[in-house]
Amino acid sequence: MKPIIAPDSEQPKSFSFLKKNEKLIKEIISRYPKGRQKSAIMPLLDLTQRQMAETVKKGGGWIPRAAMDEIARIVDVAPMKIYEVATFYSMYNLRPVGKYNIQCCTTTPCWLSGSSDIVKTAEKELGIKMGQTTKDQKFTLTDVECMGACANAPMVQVNDDYYEDLTPETMQNLLSALSKGNPPKKGPQNGRIAAMPLGGPTSLEKEAKKAKVV
Ligand code: FES
Repeated sequence: MKPIIAPDSEQPKSFSFLKKNEKLIKEIISRYPKGRQKSAIMPLLDLTQRQMAETVKKGGGWIPRAAMDEIARIVDVAPMKIYEVATFYSMYNLRPVGKYNIQCCTTTPCWLSGSSDIVKTAEKELGIKMGQTTKDQKFTLTDVECMGACANAPMVQVNDDYYEDLTPETMQNLLSALSKGNPPKKGPQNGRIAAMPLGGPTSLEKEAKKAKVV
């Protein structure tokens, strides 16, 4: 998917990290060998997105261009190096998004398991199309590729959390719970535990009991 980037009119002129995050930046950079500070690019992009989520008046976290330039200055690389990383991964939002970013997986296993109906339900419920944000900046719908939860397809990721084994009904319930500011329990929405068979384990049963997973 081509990343959606905020136009110049939506880009803040400057960006600076909060005092508490300046401390955290030093700690993040210290995780890597001396001279390898550019290894901190991804965690610093993530930190930016979380700071924005904390500080924007409405909506969720995103990464303005000025923040990418500030990261380039901190890790001492050309700004292009930061743009390259930020535009490659769909987990970085490069335009303002809603408080809840509903990332719908539409890759083959999810598609075969009904992701088109999940997307249709979300578009209908929220009154927006894929890639758009609701007027109240509560929800954004984003199309993403496989998120590694194919055994629990179809699934969506809402901010940091996975909601799996969805049906149009459970997707509707999820959206309605989120709109009340009351996110449901994350994970499978059909009652199964993680990626276990719905009826419980079919092998290693004793071990599963011993591990208290059933
Ligand atoms: S295809 Fe959707 S999580 Fe893998």
